[in-house]
Amino acid sequence: MHHFKYKENELHCEDVPVCKIAEEVGTPFYLYSHATLARHYHVFSNAFKEMDSLVCYSAKANSSYAVLKLFADLGSGLDIVSGGELFRGLKAGFKPEKIVYSGVGKRIDEIDYALESGILAFNVESLEELEVINSRAAAMNKIAPVAIRVNPNVDPKTHPYISTGLKKNKFGIEADAAIEAYIIAQDLVNLDITGIDCHIGSQIIQAQPFEDALESLKDMILELRGMGINIRHLDMGGGLGIIYNEETPPLPDEYAAGIISSLKGMNLKLILEPGRVIVGNAGILVSKVLYRKSGEIKDFVIADAGMNDLARPSMYGAYHGVQPVVSSDRRTIVADIVGPICESGDFLATDRKMPDVKQGELIALMSAGAYGYTMASNYCSRLKPAEIMVKGNQFHVIRKRQSYDDLVAGESIPSFLTDPPRHL
Ligand code: LLP
Repeated sequence: MHHFKYKENELHCEDVPVCKIAEEVGTPFYLYSHATLARHYHVFSNAFKEMDSLVCYSAKANSSYAVLKLFADLGSGLDIVSGGELFRGLKAGFKPEKIVYSGVGKRIDEIDYALESGILAFNVESLEELEVINSRAAAMNKIAPVAIRVNPNVDPKTHPYISTGLKKNKFGIEADAAIEAYIIAQDLVNLDITGIDCHIGSQIIQAQPFEDALESLKDMILELRGMGINIRHLDMGGGLGIIYNEETPPLPDEYAAGIISSLKGMNLKLILEPGRVIVGNAGILVSKVLYRKSGEIKDFVIADAGMNDLARPSMYGAYHGVQPVVSSDRRTIVADIVGPICESGDFLATDRKMPDVKQGELIALMSAGAYGYTMASNYCSRLKPAEIMVKGNQFHVIRKRQSYDDLVAGESIPSFLTDPPRHL
């Protein structure tokens, strides 16, 4: 069941009219449906329930405290890429033994924090990182659980900025070198080699790249086991795509069935790191049309949300559906939907065929639950938007819109600027 739908021409999130929220909190704001978030988590984790598996929701897709708390309460694990995500995750109640830590650039203080917390595994992305984790674990008198992130050289056929499993990408260790890395790791006494990991990219809408990566990892697991290195878990990363427009990604059940059948008899625990597929279609960005204007060759819809609120269109040319919050019969226009920021790259949609929206009207940018707020910035000293979660007929502000004071919080003026000015 879809939880963003029109009732009597008005877009609702579950049982709350979107207009009502806009009246009370202003625009722009991100809006999440609790029922959709929970359902997506259940659909995904149930798809793997016949295997020994752990879903580690990928915090980077949406790390708002309430969203994390919801998944922690459902028993999810967490995939993190920074000390900040570890902090948020622990605060939201994730069990450290369900947290995996990926990323090419883990700092020493972050490694120490993760060791102290007792996470499930470090997904290690270079030989130097392996050595650093070992020495930090030794200094702290701990044994660090590690998996090597393998770069299987598979083309995920997605946007180049979000494909991560090709040799030219910075991620992981190439297959042959990874075997070497395991041999080295075996001799590092403060490491416990627990698994193997990959993540080949994001918004992947075909099954084949996942199958190719899995085959290559399975071969490596057998080779490593043959050498006496007992790989206990396989982390397949995230990456399953969603429908933004007319994509036809595999359903979680189809994705799971392929993985499960391929891993029969391998005696492995499976870890998954889904982000977008859980939260992407559980959220929208609501904005107000500030102005309309028509150029000689184009119509512009000027919204009060811009690239600082939703970066994906400018950054990846990503498509987000645009709908008026109150629907009515009207003519169709073709327009660029742009934000208030002073660059031409500040758009939410280009050459978009859409209903003729008017000044003051609310519009919804669809499928904005993943990589929306987490990528928002204060560019042009714009305030980061509010975030709202709806459950049933109630809405809850889960993050206030920033204030002007928030903008300068933490800034200070050095004394040479505050001392009585010297006039030259
Ligand atoms: N695991 C690792 C190691 C990752 O790097 C990522 C995403 C995920 C899991 C979750 O991937 P997902 O299931 O969400 O596809 N900002 C871009 C997406 C960047 C993805 C980065 N890594 C976007 O807006 O499309």
